[in-house]
Amino acid sequence: MRILFIGDIVGGPGRRGLARLMPGLRDELVPDLVIANGENAAGGVGITEGTADDIFAAGVDLITTGNHVYRQRDAYEFIDRCERLIRPANYPRGNPGRGSAIVEAAGRRVGVLDLSGQLQLTVARSPFPAADAELDDLRRRGAEVLFVDFHAEVTSEKVAMGWHLDGRVAAVVGTHTHVPTADARVLPGGTAFIADVGMTAARRSVLGVEVDDALGAFRTQMPPRFRTAEEDVWLNAVVIDVGEDGLASGIEQVLRPVA
Ligand code: FE2
Repeated sequence: MRILFIGDIVGGPGRRGLARLMPGLRDELVPDLVIANGENAAGGVGITEGTADDIFAAGVDLITTGNHVYRQRDAYEFIDRCERLIRPANYPRGNPGRGSAIVEAAGRRVGVLDLSGQLQLTVARSPFPAADAELDDLRRRGAEVLFVDFHAEVTSEKVAMGWHLDGRVAAVVGTHTHVPTADARVLPGGTAFIADVGMTAARRSVLGVEVDDALGAFRTQMPPRFRTAEEDVWLNAVVIDVGEDGLASGIEQVLRPVA
């Protein structure tokens, strides 16, 4: 089976770029399952029911998130209700939403787990033992293929998670830093890994934010105004092939301009 994972979709430019490219990517890559990180889908920060619906309508089966998941207060009820949207599993247990989901694809049950790093981010539990417990739970619930979005700031923690789960899951893909890394590979145990998939957003930006806004914040140290950048939108993704044994046989980067 083949899984397409799309990096952080930022605001309207990201959502429109996704909708524009998906039909062609579907024809070309023929994915059985499409997963996307959507934690910045709403105006560049957070996610709402409407922006999630845009992403689903474009052909995404499941949305992962991260530290910005609760930035839109009106969305808590939706996040709690929507079974096709997940938030980091190592957040406080009573928080809205769920940390994992099982979706059917190519006749198999795929368990998708969302985890947050604990370095420079706030979590309730370390992602390493949380990964062990959550993956056990997904297996108990019947998942045959396991997939992890590790939303983390620090590269060493992301690489370490790849090794921690090597041979136990089909893929560990890093998100959050928005810059695609050049380290996509299948680890020796059969787990596809990349430290960061990148973003689906304007490339003329600082991580999806207007250059002048981000640069101004750095230069002046005054409270920033962050508008979503719109120019030169690219889609960043990876495509992962998974064998009958539930392990990866390949991972390729997909970096495409929308224009
Ligand atoms: Fe993030």
